[in-house]
Amino acid sequence: MHQLNETILQFIEKHLNDDLNQLALNAQKYKDIPIPFIISQINGRLKAKKKLPFLLEYSKILYPKKISMEQCSSEITGRYKAQLYKGNKMIDLTGGFGIDCLFFAEKFKEVHYVERDKELCEIMRHNSQILGIDNILVNHSNSETVLDKNTEDFDLIYVDPARRDEHKSKIVNFQDCQPNILEIRRKLLKQGSKILIKASPLLDIKLAIDQLENVSVIHVISIKNDCKELLFELANQECLAPTIRCVNFIDKENFMAFETKLNAEKNATVEYSLPEKYLFEPNASIMKAGLFRSVSQNLNLKKLHPNSHLYTFNKFRENLPGRVFEIENTFNFNKKDLKRLQKLKKAHIKARNFPLSVQQIRKKTGLQEGGEVYLFATTTLNNELIVIESKKMM
Ligand SMILES: C[S@@+](CC[C@H](N)C(=O)[O-])C[C@H]1O[C@@H](n2cnc3c(N)ncnc32)[C@H](O)[C@@H]1O
Repeated sequence: MHQLNETILQFIEKHLNDDLNQLALNAQKYKDIPIPFIISQINGRLKAKKKLPFLLEYSKILYPKKISMEQCSSEITGRYKAQLYKGNKMIDLTGGFGIDCLFFAEKFKEVHYVERDKELCEIMRHNSQILGIDNILVNHSNSETVLDKNTEDFDLIYVDPARRDEHKSKIVNFQDCQPNILEIRRKLLKQGSKILIKASPLLDIKLAIDQLENVSVIHVISIKNDCKELLFELANQECLAPTIRCVNFIDKENFMAFETKLNAEKNATVEYSLPEKYLFEPNASIMKAGLFRSVSQNLNLKKLHPNSHLYTFNKFRENLPGRVFEIENTFNFNKKDLKRLQKLKKAHIKARNFPLSVQQIRKKTGLQEGGEVYLFATTTLNNELIVIESKKMM
């Protein structure tokens, strides 16, 4: 691992906006300058701009290889997790680039960072020093070995398993990840008062609850309507009614949360209606959690159809956990109405519980993507196919 000395730092600053392929091709031009290392540092900074902006304030931060940059938590999700807990001692069994650890270090007196990759451990030591953090203990080891040898109790054990196979393809299920959570689950429960496990947003939530058994809380985290993380909190005793918390960050600090008991979903009362004045589309976290009945009951919104997951209401409301549209027109999906739709020329189109895909609708109507109009192709309560023309309110 190279050091970030003054010459290298100046070279990085000077070439930050270069074409990196070109820089790689011209590597022999720069004697004594480790170009591959420089390129990985520039790539790291570029990725950090969006994902980890807090690091850009420190020019001496070392960035890891691409895969660790991709796998690490973002500043937003790292901060979110840390504000859930506090205590004396926590352990992160899959340290990686250490983003989660850095935020947990603000809430725990002692943070144990465990990582099997030596270079990542060196990066963690270096970066915590640059950031002035002195309560992270770096342990270059395997999480399984650490659990086998450990005799202490932790207030929190955190695991964010590696979700890439040997071909670097993304994997989803716990049993394919490293470490295999299902194999270490019992040891985690013995050694930690609280356990937090991060999983792929593609993981089936019900399957995960069955596999993990002691799930007490599930967090479904989205940023700007893009689902990023699932978090499973395990308790030391069996939990019959886990809470599910759907969070959507609208900017760096502010999020909308929708929370319920998972078993309340099945029996929640749903009201149905034909389209009224406004249309509500739940955010990505609620969609992932499948809380379609609870949305109707808890937020007092009427559903358009059991399978449509679109809701309607008459009196404008702010702060709903999703997007709100004002309905301007409702078209039937017949020849005459399709002609009227064609006049719009451009529109954003969504198909929900509709026999045609968005592409097929575009082909039939000739509508281009974009503009101010949002069209929802869907099925009504009376099983009629309609297209709702609307404009976005929030
Ligand atoms: C998804 S990354 C963790 C990212 C981290 N949460 C962050 O925010 O930067 C998973 C890390 O776990 C490490 N890992 C996988 N299996 C491990 C094991 N059995 N013991 C220790 N580390 C392991 C990998 O090397 C990888 O760096």
